This record gives sequence, C-alpha cells and structure tokens, in this order.
Amino acid sequence: MLDLYDGNVALAKGKELIIVPTTCGTGSEVTNISILALNSRGTKKKGLAGPALFADHAVLIPELLHGLPFRFFATSSIDALVHAVESSLSPKATEFSKLFGHRAIEIILRGFMEIRDKGQEARIPLLGDFLVASTYAGIAFGNAGCAAVHALSYPLGAVYHVPHGEANYAMFTGVLNKYISIKADGEIAKLNAFIADILGCEVSCVYEELENLLNILIPKKPLHEYGMTEADIQGFTDSVRENQQRLMANNFVPLDDAAVYDIYNTLF
Ligand SMILES: [Fe+2]
Repeated sequence: MLDLYDGNVALAKGKELIIVPTTCGTGSEVTNISILALNSRGTKKKGLAGPALFADHAVLIPELLHGLPFRFFATSSIDALVHAVESSLSPKATEFSKLFGHRAIEIILRGFMEIRDKGQEARIPLLGDFLVASTYAGIAFGNAGCAAVHALSYPLGAVYHVPHGEANYAMFTGVLNKYISIKADGEIAKLNAFIADILGCEVSCVYEELENLLNILIPKKPLHEYGMTEADIQGFTDSVRENQQRLMANNFVPLDDAAVYDIYNTLF
C-alpha cells in the first residue's frame, strides 16, 4: 500500500473491485479517487487517483450505516452536500452532472430538515436516501470536480486534525459568499434559488438559512477555535496556491491569493 501511495508501484487492477460504502459521504464507490490516512507516515492523509480505482460494482447497504454515530453521519453527509454544491458550480459541470448534484442537494437538505424537526433518530429510516444522495454527489463531483471549499479545508484538516466534512463546513458559506461578491448571476443564482426553494426562504438569506440548518448537525466554529493562528491565514493561503491548484481550477469564478486570504480572514 505504501508503495502505491508513494508512487513506486503503478496502479493495476488485478481483481474485480467491489466497493461498499460504510458512510454516506465520500462517493468513493463511483469515483477514481482513494484517500487514506497513512498512519505509519504520521496522520497526514494521502490521495491516489487512477482508472483502476473505479469500482466494477458499487453496493449500497443502508443497514451498514445504522451503527454510524450521529457525528460521523453529520460530517459525512455534509461532505456529500459540499461535493454536490461544488460540482454544480464547477465550470466543468454539465446538465448531466448537475442532474445528480441538484438531486443530491435536495435529498440531503430535506433529510436534514426532517432531523431538525424530529430529532437525530429521524435519520435512521432516511439512511438509504442519504446513501443514494452521497453516491449521486460522487457521480457529480467525479465528473465536474470539487473546488475551493475542499481546497481551503485541506490545510485546516491536515494541520489541526479537523474531520474532513467538518473542515469543509467551516469553509463552506465563506467560499460561497466570496463567489457571490464577485459574480452574483449565472449558475450560482440558479443554485441559490433552488436551495432557497427547498429551505422555504428568500434567496437573499439563503446562506444564513443553510447555516441555521447545518448548525443543528455540527455547530459552525470560527477557524481560531480549531487552533488556527493569525500567521496561518497567510500560511494556509500559500499552501492552497502551492498544493491545491487541481481543485482551484474548478472554482465558480477564479479566486486569487487575496480572495483566499480574505476568506480565511473573514472566517477566522
Ligand atoms: Fe469531500
């Protein structure tokens, strides 16, 4: 495994690959990406991508999620929501990828509203829906890509060991608000109207309402509460420029260093 992740051995499919997700977040069962925490190399996660990692069969078993603690349900399903939103705003999005992305957004948000109204246990009969939504979001971002929310969350996750979905949530509306301040029409206007319709709110307050809903699952914290320092604002901005260009290429509008710095600073 280490040789594979170090790039010393080429990826080759020797067996039929059957992927069975045990959370409702990654979408790995329908993407060519595999991310592992290589514990023998410290806690930093490493990604591997290639056609050999596409599954021959993806098997969705809702019962496998029954024992998933609420916190892991919350972070993984928010990750899936972010996959769906980011890929829907990506310049690489197509009518086909957006079909999956928008449907994933709808299933996940309606599920979250049910949990808001009826409590955490209300998720249990919905786990099959969340699993399907996570796979839909995987199809969407496997084709159109993730973007700045993921890019900005990686330094926070890596340095301060924040779970992936929670680190994404910490950046989520900060990135969306930055996009809107640069370009308020086009795909983002369509997406905001779509989300406002699901949430039953005015488009003008869609991100506040979205945050109110997601806060029931994980309270949103300012970045300094995760341990981030003021010096990290520049350091993380540099890290994004140096390491995350693959994701930053999928941004709804281009974000330069000053924009990235400003997002971190606003969320700090
Ligand atoms: Fe993700």
